[in-house]
Amino acid sequence: MAVLVTGGAGYIGSHTAVALHDAGHEVVIVDNFANSSPAAVDAVRALTTEDLAFVEADLLDDDAVRRVFEQHEITGVVHFAAHKAVAESVSEPSRYYRNNVGSLLGVLDAMLEHGVDRLVHSSSCTVYGQPEVLPVSESAPVRAASPYGRTKLVSEQIISDVCAVRPLAAVMLRYFNPVGAHGSGTLGEDPNGIPNNLVPLVMQVAGGSRGKLPVFGDDYDTADGSGVRDYVHVVDLADAHVAALEVLAGGHEGATAVNVGTGSGTSVLELIEAARRVTGKAIPYEVVERRPGDVAKTWAAVDLAHDFLGWRAKRGIEEMMRDHWRWHCENPGGYRR
Ligand code: UD1
Repeated sequence: MAVLVTGGAGYIGSHTAVALHDAGHEVVIVDNFANSSPAAVDAVRALTTEDLAFVEADLLDDDAVRRVFEQHEITGVVHFAAHKAVAESVSEPSRYYRNNVGSLLGVLDAMLEHGVDRLVHSSSCTVYGQPEVLPVSESAPVRAASPYGRTKLVSEQIISDVCAVRPLAAVMLRYFNPVGAHGSGTLGEDPNGIPNNLVPLVMQVAGGSRGKLPVFGDDYDTADGSGVRDYVHVVDLADAHVAALEVLAGGHEGATAVNVGTGSGTSVLELIEAARRVTGKAIPYEVVERRPGDVAKTWAAVDLAHDFLGWRAKRGIEEMMRDHWRWHCENPGGYRR
């Protein structure tokens, strides 16, 4: 009886594999290392059990997926595996649709064939674009602004359609901005090349490997003019997946989208200040043009996460910065030591 974690060598997947193990689940990880490293699996095993099952496979390979379901007694799936770089999705949309939607279809077919009826799916607040009302609730209109975001929207729609007619129940978690790292300092975010996201860049500037942080605009309609996001600690986020699986095990039916955030926003300048306090390092920055496609501000309505999943974020921005900094200092080259 095991939970299949696709993309379990990735940033959120690896933390979730540990959280599932800690909650008493057996875990099977499948990953093709498209944007992750075998060392992440080693790190998960070191925190859990050396015999944690791992299969290197591409989810577009139907036979390989089927074999995973034949060789393990899977009771539920947490599906992370996907491409996630927004700019890359704009230049290579068909690759993004093929991978993100194709992988999901392969997983769904294998689940239905093997009578596995519980799915926790990795979605994103990117499905809201710039919300008109804040905090943004799950019933707000959806309108993703990039091919990446649209792969997430289409995936949610496919899951809802399948749940309507087949014995499948799903929770689709719409993540806000995951940051931080496991408290051990041995698991964390390991972006390929130059990071796109704010916090890995802030850590590189604090650590001295990058000179200055570009701040993408200080003329937004926000208190200090910089962009506002709902940063959520990756360990809290991992726990939300455990809670979602428990709700599904309790017999919940249909497909439900749930925001996963803290419910409050932090501006880029506030985050830089929190990182400066926590690291004790100067974080020089320069305000530059807005980044195309960025929204001004977004943060989550978290009532549904609380009422439906019984989950609330426990960790604040300082803890997020502290844990991300520890991971950064102890693994300056990420998993490529
Ligand atoms: C980005 C993705 C989003 C994805 C999310 C995952 C884009 C347009 N959106 O969201 O689809 O789900 O990551 O966490 O890429 N910032 C700077 N300087 C930088 C980098 C970022 O000022 O060098 C600012 C951004 O303008 C934004 C904030 O920091 O206001 C957060 O940026 P980022 O970490 O890239 O996340 P999102 O843009 O929210």
